Amino acid sequence: MALLIINIAVYDSIKNNYIVEKEVNYLTQANILSNRVRLSIDEANREFNQLQLNQMMEEVSHLINGRVLIIDDDKNAIYDSFNDIMNTAINTFEIDRSLKGESIANIYNLTNYGATMYVAVPVNYFDRILGVVFISVSLEDVFISINRVKNLLFFISIVTLLLITVISLFFANVISHPIKILTDAMQKTAQGKLNERVEMEGNDEIGQLSRAYNFMSTKLSHIEKQRRDFVANVSHELKTPLSSIKLLAESLIMQSKVEVGIYREFLIDINSEIDRLNEIIDSLLNMVDLDEEKLNLNYELTHINHIVERIVTSIKPLADNKDIRILINQWEKIQIYVDKGKIYQALMNIIHNAVKYTDNGGRITIHIEREGKFAVIKVRDTGHGIPMESLPFIFERFYRVDSARSRKTGGSGLGLSISHQIITLHQGSIEVESQLNIGSTFIIKLPNDINQQF
Ligand SMILES: Nc1ncnc2c1ncn2[C@@H]1O[C@H](COP(=O)(O)OP(=O)(O)O)[C@@H](O)[C@H]1O
Ligand SMILES: [Mg+2]
Repeated sequence: MALLIINIAVYDSIKNNYIVEKEVNYLTQANILSNRVRLSIDEANREFNQLQLNQMMEEVSHLINGRVLIIDDDKNAIYDSFNDIMNTAINTFEIDRSLKGESIANIYNLTNYGATMYVAVPVNYFDRILGVVFISVSLEDVFISINRVKNLLFFISIVTLLLITVISLFFANVISHPIKILTDAMQKTAQGKLNERVEMEGNDEIGQLSRAYNFMSTKLSHIEKQRRDFVANVSHELKTPLSSIKLLAESLIMQSKVEVGIYREFLIDINSEIDRLNEIIDSLLNMVDLDEEKLNLNYELTHINHIVERIVTSIKPLADNKDIRILINQWEKIQIYVDKGKIYQALMNIIHNAVKYTDNGGRITIHIEREGKFAVIKVRDTGHGIPMESLPFIFERFYRVDSARSRKTGGSGLGLSISHQIITLHQGSIEVESQLNIGSTFIIKLPNDINQQF
């Protein structure tokens, strides 16, 4: 479209320029002639002297590149450079107008001669118009030049158009090729091939897109691996107590005469395995809830001290059983916005662990203090401690330092992972320091800043 408009505009302006130039040129020549022709007018009768006129015109008419006619005021041709239509009445629009005093030029497209310009200029003698200088020139050469320009323009346009087309196709391909690769990769991802990668360099949008895609791909396969591991772990955890139950039940069935005491003993074991199953399933359900409730924490202004006191009260019988003393160190009441129930659960898991993994006669100390904009709860025990190499995994789902020992104490390995999840949801942090056979300290920090919560 732009090319077409440019073409038309350029063609038009060139044509106008050429023609205006010709017009001006021939009007000037006609004017000069008109001044000359006046010299051949008899002063007495105010008529052209034919002889003088002829002489004068012979001298100059060949200088003009066209046909020159001198017309008298009766519209008769009194001179014709082609010597053809002498003394014939000539009637053109231009001559009419010129006899009324106008200098005029017009272009016609004549069937026999092609583009032709008629130029007419009056011959004034004092206050009268005695005749007209009339020039008729062919503009064919002008139009040939203009057409040459037109053809050149057209040619350039076509070449430009072709070039643009080729370049556009090339760039379209350059852009669409990587998009196609990405689309293919995404389709594979959708079909389940999660570790699909695209290799595309460059810092442009496509490069960024492919890096984002690769990142997503890695993340997806990581999540998928976590999911598989989780399912495997869950199945394993559920399988172990089930196998025990099965084994206990089968051995009872196999023996024909069993004492009531043995029955009781086996049933007690079966019962405790069922409790363990229940505990695992509760923890799992809890975890699923937490995953779903992420953004649904029920924040309330809460005394952290009060929560800790309640936990200690409820766990006291267990601690008393093992002769473990629990101490709370607190200097001030600390109030922060938390989800009461969830924080209770998180701290309960940690304090319960402290009791569980501390031998008889041990001691548990709980510090509650303020540290900048954080409420800090430290749970220190004099228990088994956690080996260095296990510390990084302690908060992972199902991780237990010593499965055999933990079996006796019960538990699923989910407690710390749930606590970690709850505290992270509160934008807090949980850390552990531990020395084998000396004890462990769990440090929980919860933000005190209300703005952070809402
Ligand atoms: N206070 C602690 N002292 C020593 N070991 C601990 C303590 N707390 C947690 N652990 C270790 O971390 C593991 C994971 O804890 P947790 O997720 O609560 O699982 P569970 O208590 O059900 O085994 C425990 O099995 C135990 O080995
Ligand atoms: Mg636990």
